[in-house]
Order: sequence, then structure tokens, then C-alpha cells
Amino acid sequence: MTTIDAGPTGRLRVAPSILAADFGSLADQVRAIDDETDWLHVDVMDGHFVPNVSIGPPVVASLRHYSDRFFDCHLMMTEPGRYFEAFKTAGADGCTIHVEIGDTGALIGEARALGLRVGLAANPDSSFASVAPFLGDIDLLLLMTVFPGFGGQSFIGEVMDKVAEARREIDAQGVAVDLEVDGGIDERTAPLAVAAGANVLVSGSAIFARPDPLAAARSLRLAAGPS
Ligand code: DX5
Ligand code: ZN
Repeated sequence: MTTIDAGPTGRLRVAPSILAADFGSLADQVRAIDDETDWLHVDVMDGHFVPNVSIGPPVVASLRHYSDRFFDCHLMMTEPGRYFEAFKTAGADGCTIHVEIGDTGALIGEARALGLRVGLAANPDSSFASVAPFLGDIDLLLLMTVFPGFGGQSFIGEVMDKVAEARREIDAQGVAVDLEVDGGIDERTAPLAVAAGANVLVSGSAIFARPDPLAAARSLRLAAGPS
């Protein structure tokens, strides 16, 4: 499986989350927003780390036939290491694990050994200090702006202090790490996240739950500012 390049680190990117799409016509929905998609965000929920179940490698493999975008797989799972290989084979380009599950260093190493781009996610109540030791080992830091598990929740503005702290540290260390926010991102909150230092904006409801998802993705990008 060829890996799709993520593009230059630090550039503003819109990553629509398919969690909010109509799963009955996923391929059409993904193709419809292709022009405004930088990365495609795939939310994987195991019913254990989060109280919800979503999709897994077979859906990634199916979508791979319809999109050449970078597949940014967010693994909300207690045991992501058991599935890295399946996701890679299915066509995932990057996999993000959560710091709350522990064993972080080993999991990062396993994902990287498979040729995946590696992300580390932190819930709203996890400190920057919990992810800081791994900044030199990852490609992406995901700071959740909702508690994971469901789409359509309200943005938690307090996380912006942590985003700003992460941006300062990423720049100070000079590491090539994208800073992603996920949860409640829309035209109102995207500028707040970008001002705090985020460069990858995940958005589900504010794109796929709108009558015209392509126009919604465009308006989100415009609201976020110049790329
Ligand atoms: C939350 C997921 C998010 C979510 C975003 O558990 O990780 O990606 O689907 O959806 P919205 O944009 O609706 O908050
Ligand atoms: Zn997500």
C-alpha cells in the first residue's frame, strides 16, 4: 500500500471527520468534499476507551478506492497496537494514539516501524506535561477540544491555553510536529484554535451535517485565515 504524503508540517489544513457523514453513502460524501479536503480524519472508536463504536480497517480499505488524501486515523482505542498493521494494510497514512492509555513510547515505536506517520492525542483534562516528553518522537500532536466519543459536542475553549503552550514548545524545540484540534470546530471556533497555534482543524458536524458540505468546508477554511 502506497503511503500518501502528509505535506509540509505546520501548514494550515482542514481535516473533515467522516464520523458526521452519512455512512450509507460514504464514498459519495468523501468525493463531494475532495476539493476542500487536505487530510481525511477517520475516527475509530472501540467501545472501551470511549463509550461508542464506530468503524475500523475495512472501511478505511473501502474509502481508499475513492480518495487520494492523507488518511489521518484517530484511534480512540485501549489497545491500538493490536490494529496498527491492519490499519496500515487498509491504507491508513497516519495513526494517532491516546496518551491516556499508557505504554506511549513503545506504541509510537511500533507504529513508526510500520511506516505510519505517528500522532499522539490528549483529552481535554490531560496536561501538556503528559505529552511533552514525546514531542521529539511524533509527527502530530492532537489536543482534543471535546471529550472523545461523540461528534456534535461543544468546543471546550479552556483547551486553548494548552494549544498555545504546545505551540510555544514545538517552536522552541524546532520539531516537525503538526498541532491538531478536534471537536466542536466550526467557523467561530476555528479562528480561536488557529490564533492559539493549531494548524490542523478536524471538523465533522460543521462540514458533513451542513446542507452543502463542500461549501461548509470552504467557509471553515476561509474563517481559519490564510494558509
Ligand atoms: C470525537 C471525534 C471527533 C469528532 C469531531 O470523538 O474524535 O473527530 O467526530 O466531530 P465534531 O466536529 O462534530 O465535533
Ligand atoms: Zn477525531
